[in-house]
Amino acid sequence: MNQNINLQPVSSVVLDNILVNDESYAQQIMKQIDSVGYSLVYLCSPTNPSFLELSTAAVSAFNEIWSNNLDGGLGGRVDKASINFDAVANADSNLVELLNVSVIPNILRSKLGKKIYFDKNFSKFRGVNPSIKEQVNYSPLHYDGEFLPGPTYNLCIPFTGYGGPFPGLDLWKYPKWHSYLRFLIGSKLYKSIVSKFTAKWEPIVPPGYVLMFNENVMHQRSIFKKHLPRINVEFRFFSENEIGNNDLCLTEF
Ligand SMILES: [Fe+2]
Repeated sequence: MNQNINLQPVSSVVLDNILVNDESYAQQIMKQIDSVGYSLVYLCSPTNPSFLELSTAAVSAFNEIWSNNLDGGLGGRVDKASINFDAVANADSNLVELLNVSVIPNILRSKLGKKIYFDKNFSKFRGVNPSIKEQVNYSPLHYDGEFLPGPTYNLCIPFTGYGGPFPGLDLWKYPKWHSYLRFLIGSKLYKSIVSKFTAKWEPIVPPGYVLMFNENVMHQRSIFKKHLPRINVEFRFFSENEIGNNDLCLTEF
């Protein structure tokens, strides 16, 4: 593992013109999620104090792991590049604060029902570093519904760049005929049909934006030919229907 990696500073993006509580903005996002399975959503200014606290804590957690070669900090899975949600101080309170002033809870409620729950077992911080061989070799093609119960939304929130020169995600947008594939979800055939016959896309997600996608969207870590490390959090939401599932650690939002 390389030592003493310096992260690129969080770039500032001019986002002030977006009316985050504008209902038409929420409608536009919902429409995109329904048709292709994912969307980029504005969360906050990258200079928001809760965002800065969260990103500083996450970046220093991974810098410590990388510079001290602390494989154990990654739960023994260097390839997965993730640390537990609670390993970053005040992660839940900062995220709740950030989401509360955005359109995102409304979007989630329109999809999951009135009461929404975030899950701490399946929410993770990730530090993907292209200089770590195990991480370059780990890029499984999957959809989250393969291992998660019920409908769920993954909010992928970057603190560095995400995509382009940084590792990101390749996503396979729903084909126009996706509704005819619904009965195949859960099978290997679904995966091979979607990945073979539809286009993949790597979004560039600036700090302050969220990549939001549901459990049926095929995706794969993009890491080949990348040269800068990426740090982000994945915050997962479920509906009331998953209450009682022992694999989950749900908190009402
Ligand atoms: Fe995934």
